[in-house]
This record gives sequence, structure tokens and C-alpha cells, in this order.
Amino acid sequence: MPQTQSASHEHATGQLAPVGVGLLGCGTVGLGVAKLLLSHADDYQHRIGRPLRLRRVAVRDASKARGLDPAHFTLNPEEVVSDPETHIVVEVMGGVEPARTLILQAIAHGKHVVTANKEVIARHGEEIFSAARAQGVAVFIEGTVGGGIPIIMPIKASLAGNRITQIAGIVNGTTNYILTAMTQKGEGLDTALAEAQRLGYAEANPAADVEAYDATFKMAILASTIFSHRVRVEDVYREGITHLTAADIRYARELGYVIKLLGVARHTDGQMQVRVHPAFVPKSHPLAHVNGVSNAIAVQGDAVGEVMFQGPGAGQFPTASAVMGDVLNIASDLQHANRLMGCLHTGHAAVGSIDDLFTQFYVRLLAKDEPGVIAALGNAFARHGISILSLVQKGEQDGLAEIVLVTHTARERAMRQALADLADHPTIQSIASVIRVEGLTA
Ligand code: NAP
Ligand code: HSE
Repeated sequence: MPQTQSASHEHATGQLAPVGVGLLGCGTVGLGVAKLLLSHADDYQHRIGRPLRLRRVAVRDASKARGLDPAHFTLNPEEVVSDPETHIVVEVMGGVEPARTLILQAIAHGKHVVTANKEVIARHGEEIFSAARAQGVAVFIEGTVGGGIPIIMPIKASLAGNRITQIAGIVNGTTNYILTAMTQKGEGLDTALAEAQRLGYAEANPAADVEAYDATFKMAILASTIFSHRVRVEDVYREGITHLTAADIRYARELGYVIKLLGVARHTDGQMQVRVHPAFVPKSHPLAHVNGVSNAIAVQGDAVGEVMFQGPGAGQFPTASAVMGDVLNIASDLQHANRLMGCLHTGHAAVGSIDDLFTQFYVRLLAKDEPGVIAALGNAFARHGISILSLVQKGEQDGLAEIVLVTHTARERAMRQALADLADHPTIQSIASVIRVEGLTA
């Protein structure tokens, strides 16, 4: 902490000087943080033994009505990161640049940093945490994953006594909101997405949500946290939800499943695997009942067994809650960068290919309604060692039969080969959907 005005204030008043908090961004999350800082000032002072003061707030458009004293705002973010009375810089502008450069500048100025920006941490965490370590400051990232759910701190601190073997769950609020609306109300994806945007859940570019980039960043962060090696974003297998149809959602229900966008990071038998994709989740599994903007993350530790974290996965005050938790944690111990909460990784994880995944599959296809179709299906799967658990011809449309099947557990590579064989078969018109069925056991 700089010794200038703060030290003289302490000397003159006998009280600990205020902790200055600067904001990079004042949109959905930033405004929530600013409001909490102002409305909970007395509680926070009581908790950390000194006042917390909102300092400069960087935005792009200072004329937007935000209900804060205009004196806080600046169009120059460098004023936030270099302000001598700011000790903690909160980055909630999103995206890679200028967020990355400003975080590094804040660190170079000796500021602690709190961010909810999963993209900048997933892509540049190594550079940011190395700079923070060299400077002896903290970078806390609770808001990057799970919105208001405490997950980074519990893994790094409360579960530090475990070897974590798997993290699996729903880590994007917008897509869970959309899938819930499609499942329960029969809404279309675009209508549900517009509502998620109105509620402040979606990313500035909502493709980040529906194409699962956001969930991929979060899984890269979670996997890096549990694997003791950094996981590159490009090593995380990614599939979004835009190809899901009302038919898939209906068949999932008929077969006893619910479709969820799942993130899975697993470390078993020396194999590391990190993936994000829609999956059939059995209705009996707790994740099948996590709806709306809620997220839920199940963590398996070798000592604790399975622990489930569930709560609001996005939104103004839930995310501001996570960010403020980090701010207060740092403010309560400004002199020390907590080693448990830091990042000490030196290498990158060797993440396995999705081709080596063993899982069940749901397949929906359109075929000519004529003899030999079922035999062609059976032969293609048998040739690649895949056994069919159930197969139903659901109906007939324009001379084409809609066939829905679920396989027993099979290797992904074999499944892709069987589907390629089927796509070439003269009786198969199209393979409409292929969705993994997750039992979620490690
Ligand atoms: P947002 O509503 O779009 O707000 C972004 C803020 O950053 C705005 O105030 C914007 O200024 C400011 N900004 C952007 N670029 C800037 C620049 N170059 N210079 C100065 N100011 C700039 O975004 P958000 O939803 O609060 O999300 C912020 C971050 O939190 C993102 O990384 C997001 O992934 C993450 N996050 C969001 C949620 C959520 O529920 N929304 C949850 C968890 C994490 P103007 O207002 O003047 O345009
Ligand atoms: N757009 C993100 C989501 C915000 O919907 O999960 C929370 O990280």
C-alpha cells in the first residue's frame, strides 16, 4: 500500500486510512459493485476495520444515466490504474483489450486487481498472474465463473486438502435460461435470448454465450485451477446450443432426459479432458433440475467426495456479490498476496482429444421408410463396435422416417466413423442431431 497520503492520514487521525477502489467499467456488473460499495459502506467498514472508498470509474460514455456522482467518471482508464489513492482496481469492462493492458498497468502500479472478465483470464491468465506474483499483489477472479456462486475460493482454499478429479456442471446462465425456456415454455432460442439480454445475463456479444465461448473460458479457468497446469482455451472442446431443435428437446423428455449445456473437466488415469457441449442429463440427476439463470457445479475431491455449488450464474447483484467478496478479502489484508489464492503454474496441461471420450450418444436421423434401413444402422454401429441401447422409429414425414436411438457407452472416434459410414448410406437422408448422454460419473 503506498505510504503517501494514506500513511499521513493514519498518523493524523489514529484510524486506518480508507481503501480506495477504482472501477474499469460501470455496466451491469460495475454498477452493481458501485451500488454495493455505497449502500453497504458501514457493514464493509465494520468487517475490514477501515472504510472502503469508491474512487475513479472508467466508462466509454460519461453521459449515460447511472445514478452515481458524475465526479467519479472518467473517459481515461489510465486515471483509474494510476490513481495513488486507489489500492484495488476492479476490471469489469469485458473483452481482451484494453482490459489486459489496463490490468497489467494496474499491477505495475502496485494495485491489487479483482476481475469478473473470464475471457482475459482464460486467455492471458499466465501473463497476468506472473506479473502479479513478481509485483507481490493479488489478482482475484471469483466473478469469472458461476456469477454469484462461490467456486474459485472454495476450490483454492476450502478444498485445498483434496486432489480434485472432476468438475462438471452448468456454467453459463444465459444458455441455461434459454434451454429452460425452450424446454418448459416451448419458446424459441431467439425470444429466450432477447429476454436473457434484457435481464443483463448475456455477454455484450451474445454469440459468446450461445456458441459456448463463455463456458469454454470458464472451464479453462476451472480446469487450470484444479489440474495444477494451465489449460489453454483452444484445448477445450466446444459445441454451442444453436443447433438444438424443439424435436431434440421433446425426444430428450420422452427418453427420460433434459438437455443442458455442460462443462466437464476430468482428470482420471493420467488423462486430462476438458469439454463444453450440450448433453442429455438423466432426469434423476440433480443437474437436470437446475433451471433458469442458475448455475451448478459439482466438484469431486478424493477426500471430500462430491460437493455441489448452486446459485445465480449471472446478473448484476449476484456477480457484484462475488466481486465484492474478492475486494473485501483483499482489503482485509492489503499487505499480503495470499499464496493459496495466487497462481503458481509453470506449464500447460496436456489435455486429451475429444476423440478419446467414452460416453453414450443420442442420435436423430431421417431415413427412407423402406426395408433395410434398420439393418444398415445396426451394421454401421456394429462395424465400429458400438452397441445400441434403444431405437425407435418416431414417425414418417414426406416419405422419410425419423429414427431416434441411444447407444451404450462408446468411444467418440468410433461414433464419428459410424456416423460417417451412415451419412454415405443410400437409405439415410440426414443425421439431424447427435448429442452426448452424460451419466456424470468420473
Ligand atoms: P457491460 O454491461 O457491457 O459493461 C461494460 C462496461 O465497461 C460499460 O460500463 C462500458 O462503458 C465499459 N467499457 C467497455 N469498454 C471500455 C473501454 N474501452 N473504456 C472504458 N470503459 C469501457 O458488461 P457486464 O455485463 O457488466 O460484464 C462485464 C464483465 O463481467 C465481462 O467480462 C463479463 O463477462 C463479466 N461478467 C458478467 C456477468 C453478467 O451477469 N453480466 C456475470 C459474470 C461476469 P459504457 O457503459 O460507457 O458503455
Ligand atoms: N453471460 C454470462 C452467463 C455471464 O450468462 O453465464 C456470467 O458469467
